[in-house]
Amino acid sequence: MKFLVVGASGLIGRAVAKALSQYGEVIGVSRSSEISVDVREPATIQRMYERVGKVDAVASCIGKVPFKPLTELTYADYEEGFRDKGLGQVELVRSGIDYLVDGGSFTLMTGILARDPIPSGSVAALANGAIESFTLAAAIDLPRGLRINTVSPNVLVEATNYHASFPGYHQVTAKEVADAYLKSILGKQTGQIYKLD
Ligand SMILES: NC(=O)c1ccc[n+]([C@@H]2O[C@H](COP(=O)([O-])OP(=O)(O)OC[C@H]3O[C@@H](n4cnc5c(N)ncnc54)[C@H](OP(=O)(O)O)[C@@H]3O)[C@@H](O)[C@H]2O)c1
Repeated sequence: MKFLVVGASGLIGRAVAKALSQYGEVIGVSRSSEISVDVREPATIQRMYERVGKVDAVASCIGKVPFKPLTELTYADYEEGFRDKGLGQVELVRSGIDYLVDGGSFTLMTGILARDPIPSGSVAALANGAIESFTLAAAIDLPRGLRINTVSPNVLVEATNYHASFPGYHQVTAKEVADAYLKSILGKQTGQIYKLD
């Protein structure tokens, strides 16, 4: 099997790529990889798929949004965050349909802020909520038996920089997050939001 991991050099992407490597070939991409992609630029997504060719699964491990108090957020902040974590992932799906083998899968990335907010987290919440709703809708509309799920974890044990912003939140491990990707990719489910609370 051949897997495409977008954001493979990140904390979650590295764990996902390592887990998937036990089951087949992993092609890891990001802005700084040899086959590069910037999810904010649709043309780079198309070029990436042309270079990678057909795959059994696309695992998205990206998503960067601004964190600011609601009263300080500008229209441009919302646009920037939504273009990255929201539309960037939608475009990985829209543009990737022709590059998945029949029965292949997309697995997208959201997070706890879709349902359990912290101060300054409204752009993250917006993008996460949109992707989770998109997942439900796309699952019943994808052709050729293609599947789609989303992994929505709590803050990671390993993400020590974030811990002060998530007091009292239950921390999950990168391994638990990677396991949810394995379930999505190697299993048969579709339209699921794997909430790792
Ligand atoms: N860490 C947590 O505790 C946690 C918890 C819940 C949810 N999440 C979500 O999980 C996602 C990944 O988090 P992470 O902690 O693994 O992040 P990370 O360590 O910062 O990794 C981000 C990855 O995405 C790539 N990337 C960044 N911008 C990109 C772009 N525009 N186009 C293509 N690739 C891009 C980066 O590589 P390059 O810089 O080379 O492009 C890197 O490989 C985010 O959506 C985050 O909200 C994280």
